[in-house]
Amino acid sequence: MAQAPVSTTIVQDYAERFAGSRAMHERARQVIPGGITHDGRYMKPFPPSIARAQGAYKWDVDGNRLIDYVMGHGSLLFGHNDPDILAAMQAQLPVGTHYGAGHEGEIRWADEVVRLVPSAEQVKFTGSGTEATLLAIRVARSFTGRSTVVKLEGHFHGWHDYLLKGERPPFEAGAQPGIPREVLGTVAVVASNDLGMLEERLAQPDVAALILEPSGGSWATIPLIEGYLQAARDLATKYGVVLIFDEVITGFRWAPGGAQERYGVTPDMTTLAKIVAGGMPGGALAGKRALMEMLAFKDEPGWNTSKKVRHQGTYNASPVVAAAGAACLRKAADPGVQRYCDEMAARLRAGFNAAMVERGVPGYAWGESSVFHVNLGEAAPNQEGGDMRSPDGVSAETLKSASQNAVNSQLRLGMMVEGVELFTPGGMTSTAHSVEDIDETIAAFGRVLDRMGEEGAFAG
Ligand SMILES: Cc1ncc(COP(=O)(O)O)c(C=O)c1O
Repeated sequence: MAQAPVSTTIVQDYAERFAGSRAMHERARQVIPGGITHDGRYMKPFPPSIARAQGAYKWDVDGNRLIDYVMGHGSLLFGHNDPDILAAMQAQLPVGTHYGAGHEGEIRWADEVVRLVPSAEQVKFTGSGTEATLLAIRVARSFTGRSTVVKLEGHFHGWHDYLLKGERPPFEAGAQPGIPREVLGTVAVVASNDLGMLEERLAQPDVAALILEPSGGSWATIPLIEGYLQAARDLATKYGVVLIFDEVITGFRWAPGGAQERYGVTPDMTTLAKIVAGGMPGGALAGKRALMEMLAFKDEPGWNTSKKVRHQGTYNASPVVAAAGAACLRKAADPGVQRYCDEMAARLRAGFNAAMVERGVPGYAWGESSVFHVNLGEAAPNQEGGDMRSPDGVSAETLKSASQNAVNSQLRLGMMVEGVELFTPGGMTSTAHSVEDIDETIAAFGRVLDRMGEEGAFAG
């Protein structure tokens, strides 16, 4: 007698198809806490283990091909193994990977940053984005002689002690494991999009700097209202506060000159990483000369001991990274690059929204430039089925915690089973993503929604 087909769940399919990753995760857990090297890679029942990557794709240890929207946490604007970036690194490797000294590569790299980024009159390279934001606030504090840094709810600036405060809900939580309260006390968090609250805080005499992601918190997860950046610029100028745009994600992605070029608002300093280093480990602080000079040694009496900001870093502008960065920025200077990536992300957002509307599934996809986010389970008041920048009427808390909800976790697993790796869920596009990749992703999304519906994900 024929047996009825046994239907499996998304989780079961994931566990079966990615069995090699589970084994790898078990091994990793023995020697790496929790088995992951970045909190953002936490995933239940276990994360994928990748064996190789090329262009828009990654292959896991079981040979599953994944269309990749993690894109090196946003650092791979040209996809995996871009031939020009690869060639630049390969040319550098045999002539030295660390000189412990200055070299032409770092000047060429700095030239590219200065050429592209409106606020960049000078650049200082760092080892990561976290180091760049740490350095930025140190410079601002020394320059102004004040100590408080103001930031916005839900904005991420790396993992050092100062700026994790207010990064995720509950935004007002006063304590962070391992971070002294005294340190937290030097940072003030204001609500995203509340200009009245911002002015009230900036008007106080202790404020050295305002730092924000010009895309809105966590790469446009919490969009900023129209005109916010210009208003922030005006307020910072009015109160003598250093305005820092954290363009670790938006730099060279929102436009060749980053979000500041796209929105026409120039900060005093800019923090960069990811694309600036061509997907290699590196970052930069760029800014107006008067501020950047805080990092320079001077012959003025007392300057070097009482005013100059200290900055070291074994891997700052290391030659291979500098070569990758300069090669990447030469390519990113063509605005056609960002236009293409933007179009691919807009197509995805519209396709995802249409798929949800067609099926009557509550949820929305949003974002801008070449990023997208998805939140399933709850409809946005303005959901129309098209490309959407901002899900108006949804709280910053909801948007920021979407990635933690069970339905979105199931979506992520379902997409993996379909051969698509999302980030958070959401992701970023690159020049390596073809229209076919995007359409394949939208079709996969529809199938996953159907399957989730069958599993009762949207019931109640
Ligand atoms: C806006 C922003 N700032 C800072 C950082 C920290 O950069 P890194 O991970 O290189 O330390 C990130 C990382 O994702 C980021 O998105």
